[in-house]
Amino acid sequence: MKNELLPIVEPLLRWFEENRRALPWREDREPYHVWISEIMLQQTRIEAVMRYYARFMDALPTVEQLSTVDDDTLLKLWEGLGYYSRARNLKKAAGIIMRDHGGVFPRCYEQLRQLPGIGDYTAGAIASLCFDERVPAVDGNVLRVITRVLGSRANVLLQTTKQDITRQLCAVIPEQAGRFNEGLMELGELICLPNGMPDCVRCPLYRCCTAYLQGLTAEIPVRQKELRRTAVEKTVFLIHDANGYIAIEKRDGQGLLSGMYQLPNIDGYFSVEELYDRLKGMGLDPSAIDHHKDRKHVFTHIDWYMCSYRVSVAEPNDRFLWVSEEELRSAYPLPTAFKKLL
Ligand code: ADE
Repeated sequence: MKNELLPIVEPLLRWFEENRRALPWREDREPYHVWISEIMLQQTRIEAVMRYYARFMDALPTVEQLSTVDDDTLLKLWEGLGYYSRARNLKKAAGIIMRDHGGVFPRCYEQLRQLPGIGDYTAGAIASLCFDERVPAVDGNVLRVITRVLGSRANVLLQTTKQDITRQLCAVIPEQAGRFNEGLMELGELICLPNGMPDCVRCPLYRCCTAYLQGLTAEIPVRQKELRRTAVEKTVFLIHDANGYIAIEKRDGQGLLSGMYQLPNIDGYFSVEELYDRLKGMGLDPSAIDHHKDRKHVFTHIDWYMCSYRVSVAEPNDRFLWVSEEELRSAYPLPTAFKKLL
């Protein structure tokens, strides 16, 4: 199968060659420089990182010095960047590099990934930017660029989306892995901007970008937060009259399931005595109330916990519509939640 990302490789490499910014940590491919800058860039914008980076390198120009720095000095250098555990992890990892790697920075993704504070992204960034190992470095910028190129509406907040894009990138990363990965990051920061503001006319990938070609850049990437779920307890009535007709009613015209029909129901759970009173309040005179089934129904962001009762009445009233079970099945739209109780 042809990989849809293959056409981005050459234009991206060429564009990056001509447009890369001169940033202090790009002056060489020294892993110590790339590492510190990548950790700082995870929490702060490039302009602010410049100052922190320069001060950090003045104070601690080598891994060895980082490994022995006293905690107060370290935290002072990190002051204002936040996430202080990241600074502590830097020192821990520097200690491991000195002790277990003879002071030489590990060169491959797998070994980098073992160090404290170095996750998939940072290991991929160091391995590719410094050593051209053909591994991806997928952060928010890269997810945005790639989902737009692919026209993918996958939710970029999901781990599965990140895994999927990592897999697709793995298949096309060229020998110049560092230039390729850094080019993607750079494109995400300079051209393929978030919030529907990409500068597509200057983008080297517009010819192969599905989102651009189909006018979807405002909709992609999709960032869908996990919805907070609400649990609702319901008592549902299967009310039969002497002829076997069953009471239904139309839900009002707003909100969940509006306009559909439903079995009469009330919020909450009740004793059978209380149910007699409630049903009287609906203009019914029940001769029997028997517990029927309990069922759960899951909507997008609400879970109904339904406790149902069979109710017998001699006389129908005109508050409800009284229909045969056959009519109910064939002529009235009844949500699945209620069908579960029939
Ligand atoms: N964002 C994070 N790392 C970056 C890098 N090396 N170049 C450009 N943007 C980045």
